[in-house]
Amino acid sequence: MNIRIKDKVIEYPIIQGGMGVGISLGRLSGAVAREGAMGTISMVNTGYKEKDFYRNTLEANRRGFKRELELARRLSQGKGLVGVNIMVVLNQYEELVRQAVEEKVDYIISGAGLPLNLPELVGDEDILIAPIVSSLRALKLINRIWSKKYNRLPDFVVLEGKGAGGHLGYKRDELEGGKGLEELTVEIAEYLKDKEIPLFVAGSVFDGYDLRKYRGLGATGVQIGTRFIGTYECDADERFKDLIINSGKEDLVIIDSPVGIPGRAIMNNFLREIEVERKPSERCINCLKTCNPKTTQFCISDALINAVKGNIDEGLIFAGSNVDRVEKKVSVKSIIESIIEEYGEI
Ligand SMILES: Cc1cc2nc3c(=O)[nH]c(=O)nc-3n(C[C@H](O)[C@H](O)[C@H](O)COP(=O)(O)O)c2cc1C
Repeated sequence: MNIRIKDKVIEYPIIQGGMGVGISLGRLSGAVAREGAMGTISMVNTGYKEKDFYRNTLEANRRGFKRELELARRLSQGKGLVGVNIMVVLNQYEELVRQAVEEKVDYIISGAGLPLNLPELVGDEDILIAPIVSSLRALKLINRIWSKKYNRLPDFVVLEGKGAGGHLGYKRDELEGGKGLEELTVEIAEYLKDKEIPLFVAGSVFDGYDLRKYRGLGATGVQIGTRFIGTYECDADERFKDLIINSGKEDLVIIDSPVGIPGRAIMNNFLREIEVERKPSERCINCLKTCNPKTTQFCISDALINAVKGNIDEGLIFAGSNVDRVEKKVSVKSIIESIIEEYGEI
């Protein structure tokens, strides 16, 4: 298809969404890029496997990230793009963006908060920058501030709807009713049209028919998360992947996250336990701007690290509302091929 975003070209307009902690690292993102798409490393706690992670968190994360980026680049064989996802709500946000810039990643996607100073942190580097938004209002605000302060607009935009996995840019009471992803796509694509900014749509997007539908509504492409967990290449422990494969819609719940917004996850022993007792960290690494370790119901870093390591009963397993469609483990290549075939390009 060959899609141009500023001076970079991808074969297919498919972003594998960043999934933290550790679900999308070098192996997954490199495999996605190799197929001519965009593979995203999540920069949340990339150092979680390092021995000094709890003593020296920032350094461990920097080391972990460097290794994962090298792996992704090697696996990509120069194809597609390798970028990062950095959540605004992280205390290490600025340091992580600076490292991504030093390492000259292809793109930075930033959500879970409004990335209002992202252009300043990236400067003149040849790196695509994109916010994740859930409404036209948020996008207009970002555009207004970026253009006024930095004379810059996003290079592309990710629109995340209510069906997404992980954190959701909506209040609990907004999750029922309101505008659907189709309507939001039309509205935002219309607004971006004369600015020539590509729009990628996320949240329960799964196959080539979805890609065709959203392109028909004015989007350039899609961002997909949950489906990529069911791959050989996904960086999570096999027990995490198997749980995703074996879960259905009935297993999904909306939780209140220490990030301060709701999240969609799989109901499990951990979530049942935190309903009745607090599980703060015994070794808080001060990861979130929004979390007060003295009052939080649970430590999200501990819970996500347990999950990615396969300690499923004590972990928080984020998943999107189409988790029931992930039925077996497949290769990244087969997912991209089937999407393109369904889209009608082959
Ligand atoms: C396990 C999991 C972890 C995620 N972690 C992050 C994250 O750290 N930062 C982020 O911006 N989005 C995160 N997401 C959202 C994905 O990047 C993607 O936008 C979303 O999953 C799209 O919806 P889908 O899962 O229905 O395809 C996560 C999603 C999942 C399922």
